[in-house]
Amino acid sequence: MTGIVVLGSTNMDLVVYAARTPKLGETVTGREFRTVPGGKGANQAVAAARAGGEVAMIGAVGADGYGERLRHTLEASGVDTDLLRTAEGPSGTAHIVVDDEGGNAKVVIPGANGTVTELGPGDEALIETAGTLLLQLELPLSAVQSGADAARRHAVRTVLTPSPAQPLPPELLAAVDLLVPNEHEAATLTGVADPRSAAESLLRQVPEVVITLGAAGSLYVARDAEPVRVPVPRVTPVDRTGAGDTFVGALAVALGEGRPMPDALRWATAAAALCVTRPGASTSMPYRPEIEDA
Ligand code: RIB
Repeated sequence: MTGIVVLGSTNMDLVVYAARTPKLGETVTGREFRTVPGGKGANQAVAAARAGGEVAMIGAVGADGYGERLRHTLEASGVDTDLLRTAEGPSGTAHIVVDDEGGNAKVVIPGANGTVTELGPGDEALIETAGTLLLQLELPLSAVQSGADAARRHAVRTVLTPSPAQPLPPELLAAVDLLVPNEHEAATLTGVADPRSAAESLLRQVPEVVITLGAAGSLYVARDAEPVRVPVPRVTPVDRTGAGDTFVGALAVALGEGRPMPDALRWATAAAALCVTRPGASTSMPYRPEIEDA
């Protein structure tokens, strides 16, 4: 039995640290350049494994040096990569500028992620063994829908991070148990700017919603439970890349262990708060003892 299966993307993050992001037509001089393994799917897998989950990853890396490093990073964190394909062509890349407040702007080139258009041999059998399936939107929507449908057939809890933000077909939301958008993604899905109203509107399509609100914490609403608001401990952010993925990975572990939602949210918040104090995506994700200490 695999506790958590992630169907999602792998990207090599090409990260520039600069005082601020350039305006259109402007050149700014940055401070530092790093290549850091990332991608929303791989980030959630790494975060969940480091938080103590048993995790397997479905997706693709490219047939290049980035692909080898992405696979190695997952394996070094304890993620099972038996069903992570190596596709012809380049790995996915994310081109990121991080500013002095830790905020970021990104352009993602899908590369190998774009080849994952459907489930492959063995994927549904693996999903069937899981307690939780984690999905995001950096793979083609056809694969995301197939994964959600497979999870539904086998009564596996499906958690969707609707990022990058885009309108979604009702049939995808209908197959999701827990939706975890940030406030911008929630507004894209509903057309409603106020996070509380957007969350309540989403409950018409999904039974449980957690909206992440950056430094303002998170808000949980459900069809059959009281809302929960969780604040974030005060930290000095260095790089917010991957914080949302860390939150989801840790949340999946806590829920899989049977913790009540308010406790699971506090645990996930502690993990995400640690992540923003360090540079990079996978490089900043905490291990379980650090989360416990926090
Ligand atoms: O969510 C953070 C991730 O988004 C980065 O690691 C980058 O790869 C982009 O996909």
